[in-house]
Amino acid sequence: MCGIVGYVGPKDCSEVLVSALRKLEYRGYDSAGIAVFEDGNIRIAKEKGRLDDLVAKMQTEGTPKGHIGVGHTRWATHGVPSAKNSHPHAGGEKVTLVHNGIIENYKELKEQLEAQGRSFVSETDTEVVAQLLDSNYEGDPIEAIAKTLSQVEGSFALGILFADREGELYAVRRESPLIVGVGEDETFIASDVPAIIKYTSQYYLLEHDEVAVLSENGVKFCTLEGEKIEKELKVADWDQEAAEKGGYEHYMLKEIHEQPTAVKTTITPRISNGLPNLEECSITPEKLSEIKQIYVVACGTAMHAGMVGKYVIEKLARVPVHVDIASEFRYREPLINKDDLVIIISQSGETADSLAAMRLAKQMGANTLAIVNAKGSSIAREADMLIYTHAGPEIAVASTKAYMVQISVMYLLGFELAHAKGRIDDETCRRLTSVLSGVPAVIEETIERVDAQCNEGANKLLEAESLLYIGRGLDYALSMEGSLKLKEISYIHSESYAAGELKHGTISLITDGMPVIAVATQNALYDKTVSNIKEVKARGAMVILVCDDDAQVGEDVADFVIRVPRIEEILMPMVAAVPLQLLAYYTSVHRGNDVDKPRNLAKSVTVE
Ligand code: G6P
Repeated sequence: MCGIVGYVGPKDCSEVLVSALRKLEYRGYDSAGIAVFEDGNIRIAKEKGRLDDLVAKMQTEGTPKGHIGVGHTRWATHGVPSAKNSHPHAGGEKVTLVHNGIIENYKELKEQLEAQGRSFVSETDTEVVAQLLDSNYEGDPIEAIAKTLSQVEGSFALGILFADREGELYAVRRESPLIVGVGEDETFIASDVPAIIKYTSQYYLLEHDEVAVLSENGVKFCTLEGEKIEKELKVADWDQEAAEKGGYEHYMLKEIHEQPTAVKTTITPRISNGLPNLEECSITPEKLSEIKQIYVVACGTAMHAGMVGKYVIEKLARVPVHVDIASEFRYREPLINKDDLVIIISQSGETADSLAAMRLAKQMGANTLAIVNAKGSSIAREADMLIYTHAGPEIAVASTKAYMVQISVMYLLGFELAHAKGRIDDETCRRLTSVLSGVPAVIEETIERVDAQCNEGANKLLEAESLLYIGRGLDYALSMEGSLKLKEISYIHSESYAAGELKHGTISLITDGMPVIAVATQNALYDKTVSNIKEVKARGAMVILVCDDDAQVGEDVADFVIRVPRIEEILMPMVAAVPLQLLAYYTSVHRGNDVDKPRNLAKSVTVE
């Protein structure tokens, strides 16, 4: 939700800010703006639309020239996307800032400021902080920041320029993430590491209510009381190439192709002597054997990874697993016991609802385990136990490789839990683990095999207004993700349905030519799914069937069949996910959509 950057150094500031914002556009792309100290004055350039629209505007109207500045790419929360609502916002004569997050009490504060005679140019909550800070500023930036933070409620990361402090850039955060990058003779602020990786891999993680002061002398950190803080310098293990497109037309396609490596890097260090070993993540067999019940809490794609985990864990370990949408879980007074395990899955580690759900679970005494991709993120830092997925940076808004690695971890956990509980013997656990180790190669083979076919199959979906994904058991869990992928980037309405449930209502939606994508990889359920397929076909549906090499597909079953290699049945979602991702990808491409930045969405959702 919005990306912020800042730069202090010898380079052309506008150029650095724009290049850093490009890497943050996944966080929002309704509008963009920068503010740079130019000849002693703060010059702002901002524009509605993508970063390229801002660049075009600056090419005609002039680009601010200087060495200190802040930048922003927006995902609108308060006020429509427009030039006037875009950041940076000036709070008056003294302060200009960029903001990521939400100021919850902005209405009250706005009324107070209006009563003091201030007027507002935008509809944003951000301008309220800018004006508040401006009114609190009497020459001491830290004092003014501290006073302002004592008045605002909500989540925020701020990059601030004070008009009379030309050599300095201030940053502070509460809840919303912010890092401070340190290069040679230059310093940065950014919402995320990929923004600055081109310039430096060294960074500090700013903690809640810590202030960073960047100047040509480097960076200093202090508390809101002005006390100096020493912080640990971190080194990012994501390189620039990993954050670039690397010859692929879209990040999404690149990330689909990165799945074999991502899964291998995630699972290999967690297997020893042929068995899962999560001790490095503080998960011991003893701890696992005590678990009575599991909640998986997450949002979006991560929640769908939890759905696969539920089927796997319940089947193998016989432990009940409840999968919850984080925004529901946090407000429905969940029935958690002390010996329950609450698993939070999150790519970004910053999703507001997932973070709040985890805090609630901790308060209620449950053990929390986070499965997170972004190192040092809030969820990663606050969980009792942590398994990092090693997908590297995922830039496309539609998640693919992060989902795949999340599932791979759910499998490892499921195998180890089942083993620890004595539900599967050593030999079975070794066999399953070995099949999982072989999955990266199968994913690679599958991508190669089905790519062209999915491209062709996507053409059959282009004109659809609505379509259905159906499956049973693990295939149903997977079709939820397939359906989400398609709707996110193709803008075609799509639902996933448990195949057996169709006739209880949804089948009434089937009309002539309506696409139905059926996933059937589970032997025991195959014939039943085929019966459901026949029911929709009899009513005119155009069926695309995703099945494996062993499936016996009668001639009248499907209009288009995509076969994937067969592996151990329980692991089939990791293979069958590939054609669903590619079908969504090519449908989006053929419809001429912006695949990596679909409308209205953002990759990191740090607001409720
Ligand atoms: C957004 C993204 C999804 C993601 C979800 C949860 O909606 O567009 O791709 O699955 O947030 O994000 P998280 O970072 O917690 O996995």
